[in-house]
Amino acid sequence: MKFFVDSADVAAIAEMNETGMVDGVTTNPSLIKQSGREILEVIREICAIVDGPVSAEVTAIDTDTMIAEGRKLVKIADNIAVKVPLTWDGLKACKVLSTEGHMVNVTLCFSANQALLAAKAGATFISPFIGRLDDINIDGMDLIEDIRTIYDNYGFETQILAASIRSVNHVLDCARIGADVITAPPAVIKSMIAHPLTDKGLATFLADIKSAGIKIV
Ligand code: E4P
Repeated sequence: MKFFVDSADVAAIAEMNETGMVDGVTTNPSLIKQSGREILEVIREICAIVDGPVSAEVTAIDTDTMIAEGRKLVKIADNIAVKVPLTWDGLKACKVLSTEGHMVNVTLCFSANQALLAAKAGATFISPFIGRLDDINIDGMDLIEDIRTIYDNYGFETQILAASIRSVNHVLDCARIGADVITAPPAVIKSMIAHPLTDKGLATFLADIKSAGIKIV
């Protein structure tokens, strides 16, 4: 399972990248706004840090302008995935850009039928938003399961990029179902390591090291 960092905070991405856990990055207009920085500059800096796919979202809603924006974005670096919304215009742009050999991430997916359309349009990634479905009392994980089944039924190569991940349980459930990728804020990925018995066990070992004077170097 690949881990993408869902952030436009260059310093946070660089810090997380040192763990060796970062297989890619996703950004969206809200994250760019939060960064308070210019989109092309931020994306360029992220691409210089991370080797894997870096999703950069178009701003247009018509096919032609999305294609023009996508072509501009992919010039930034070889690892850009152009992110387009799940609309007919977005799917048409996806078809053109993916046929040209560019990675495309189709975002704002909330149904399995939408995911089926994105796969047929040649999407590299489909981004189903788990947390936002949970927010309206629909189990986001059911969507991941449905897409997994449908893509496997027909051998679609589009990767399921589970997005809008809000908790470590979301990550675990996605891993159980077989999502190809999860994208999560750095804080969620960091908290996957937490376990009270790890902390307690380490405290005991450290006390024994001290009292026994154990030394290696
Ligand atoms: C994914 O590509 C999106 O940027 C992101 O996961 C959305 O998450 P949110 O619903 O927590 O804003």
